[in-house]
Amino acid sequence: MTMHIVTGAGSGLGRALTQKLVAEGHRVAMMGRTSTKLAALAERLGDKVLPITVELSDAEAVHQAFDYAEAWGGAPERVIHCAGVGDFGALSGQSDDAILTMLNSNLSSTIWVAREVVRRWGEREVVLANVLSTAAQVGKSHEAVYCASKWGMRGFLEALRQELKGQPVRLINVYPAGIRSAFWAGSDHVDSGGFMSPDEAAEYLLALLSAKSSCYVSDVTLSRF
Ligand SMILES: NC(=O)c1ccc[n+]([C@@H]2O[C@H](COP(=O)([O-])OP(=O)(O)OC[C@H]3O[C@@H](n4cnc5c(N)ncnc54)[C@H](OP(=O)(O)O)[C@@H]3O)[C@@H](O)[C@H]2O)c1
Repeated sequence: MTMHIVTGAGSGLGRALTQKLVAEGHRVAMMGRTSTKLAALAERLGDKVLPITVELSDAEAVHQAFDYAEAWGGAPERVIHCAGVGDFGALSGQSDDAILTMLNSNLSSTIWVAREVVRRWGEREVVLANVLSTAAQVGKSHEAVYCASKWGMRGFLEALRQELKGQPVRLINVYPAGIRSAFWAGSDHVDSGGFMSPDEAAEYLLALLSAKSSCYVSDVTLSRF
């Protein structure tokens, strides 16, 4: 039984990953913004999970959350940074707040989480998987700031991978296409009806995130039919 850290564990892909990891016998430190979502999941999953309510765009809060997770479970086998937000539409209509929330929740959080991982466990065989998006591979209309945040994640993570070359920590970048989740609640930007389910996406991902001693899958694009 190993410990995992999953961010964005309160809903969507993060919740599906957490449920599957616990079903496989692992312990999960679940990080997310809304305590009620984490508490509801913890009630179902019991003492195999630790709910940690944290605003991941705040560096000091991320540091404290990782302290808490480490005190509970020691060094994790994998850290899966899944938390993220989207706000879509023409740039001219987007508020300062929506733009900054996307940049901070998607990009800044990635930097804070990665820094905690390399400071604490950079000399161990820890997998750090980050959930980006196909919006980090191609520009999409009415997604300019979301794309910027995800392309920013990609640039940061690819450069960090070079910096960490030769160290045992593995960086895995995951690029999913559309997932049917609360991510799209309150948005009519797309019809998410035909998107992949969080459960199926989580199942694929967990199969691919198992690093061997001499090789690993470094970049994953999850396409949908
Ligand atoms: N859904 C898609 O079509 C799609 C496609 C490609 C990539 N992605 C990416 O996949 C990841 C997971 O998305 P999802 O579909 O599972 O969405 P989701 O159901 O909305 O889950 C995202 C989770 O991240 C948490 N979160 C967001 N910002 C946070 C912050 N600053 N601090 C702490 N927690 C924060 C949210 O917490 P609250 O619930 O409290 O807000 C939520 O639990 C995201 O990074 C998203 O960009 C999604």
